Amino acid sequence: NTRFTFCMIKPDAFKSDTVSDILLDILKAGFKIRGIKITMLTKSKAEQFYDIHQGKEFFDRLTTFMSSGPVMAMVLERPDAVESMRKLIGKTDPAQAEEGTIRKKFGSDTTHNAVHAADSYENAEREWSFFFSKREIY
Ligand code: CMP
Repeated sequence: NTRFTFCMIKPDAFKSDTVSDILLDILKAGFKIRGIKITMLTKSKAEQFYDIHQGKEFFDRLTTFMSSGPVMAMVLERPDAVESMRKLIGKTDPAQAEEGTIRKKFGSDTTHNAVHAADSYENAEREWSFFFSKREIY
């Protein structure tokens, strides 16, 4: 099913108070919110979520940051959800992201880059299952 993706607003956006601006950009791009919650990841939960990056140079930096403050997890619906969300957020490094993208507008560096979005439909399902039970998705 190519209508759904998973997205997460990262702790830096809470710190800079840009969560509502990011949400507006997501809604303006035509996404419907089907699940949403604010929570905080423990270090071990962050390590579990980013398991595929285990062993990489930035793994500790990433998981320490992701457990340093609140995150907002979302299930989003739109045709071609994964591709259109990746396009909306822009490249991992905000300095290299295209003008108008969320990471360009609200990110600061490769670690503090405001948002995460699933890179495949398979990962999207794995990622929303990590945060949501079936009853929490409309
Ligand atoms: P995200 O979409 O959340 O998925 C993995 C994250 O790892 C990515 O966004 C970046 O924030 C982070 N990341 C990827 N590459 C690097 C890097 N070279 N240095 C620091 N963080 C990185």
